[in-house]
Amino acid sequence: MPEQQSLLARYPDITRVPNHVGIIMDGNGRWARSRGLPRLAGHRAGTENIRRILRAATEFGVKVLTIYAFSTENWDRPPEEVSGLMGLLGEVIRRETEDLHRNGVCIRHSGRLEGIAPHLARQIQDAVALTSNNQRITLNVAFNYGGRAEIVDAVRHIMRDDHAPEAVTEALISQYLYTGGLPDPDLIIRTGGEWRLSNFLIWQAAYAEYYATPTYWPDFDEAELANALIEYNQRERRFGKVLQR
Ligand code: FPP
Repeated sequence: MPEQQSLLARYPDITRVPNHVGIIMDGNGRWARSRGLPRLAGHRAGTENIRRILRAATEFGVKVLTIYAFSTENWDRPPEEVSGLMGLLGEVIRRETEDLHRNGVCIRHSGRLEGIAPHLARQIQDAVALTSNNQRITLNVAFNYGGRAEIVDAVRHIMRDDHAPEAVTEALISQYLYTGGLPDPDLIIRTGGEWRLSNFLIWQAAYAEYYATPTYWPDFDEAELANALIEYNQRERRFGKVLQR
């Protein structure tokens, strides 16, 4: 049987693979409504899709995938939706952690643990600890995450550690963010048709390329990810400079 062609080999236009991809997974609710299903069914389908996209991203050679799973603003959703999302996270950690660990996935959490139910917070910490030495890909789960809250937390932490004002540099602030030690994202993808950052990685994404697609998150498959990577390959990243030609 011929060896299955690697995902990357199928897309010759992808010659540069972003190191770090962030995804704003939007459109679960509309995906569900378009099928006459409750919103939580959309979140369930969205959760299933994480596995598919994690696998594809790994095959493409992405080293860090950050997914926006629950924002600090999402607490304002109807209580049954909030508790549904909390339950989904617990379920997915219980069901998937061992398998992710076996596959070399390092799980990180970006966000505040305060506010999350203690048993769920412990599950998150355990999954992070178990997988901390894995190196194939980092799955960074932004949960109870807000970009501004992250900067506030970093500043508080820097002050508690008694850094002199002159010692506060961009590199120091980066280190103190939840993402400390991770490279900045190169590409931010938003599904579901909106063109907003929604408080996602606002410090880290300063020079990221932005890609938006109308596709609802549960329908965002490998081919859609490849489209985003192809578009990324067509962009010229200048980092504020003028490039010599
Ligand atoms: C937006 O869809 C999506 C979210 C609120 C977060 C993404 C959540 C998942 C993919 C489920 C996985 C989460 C966990 C906790 C593992 P939306 O409800 O805003 O969609 P809409 O804009 O169509 O209403």
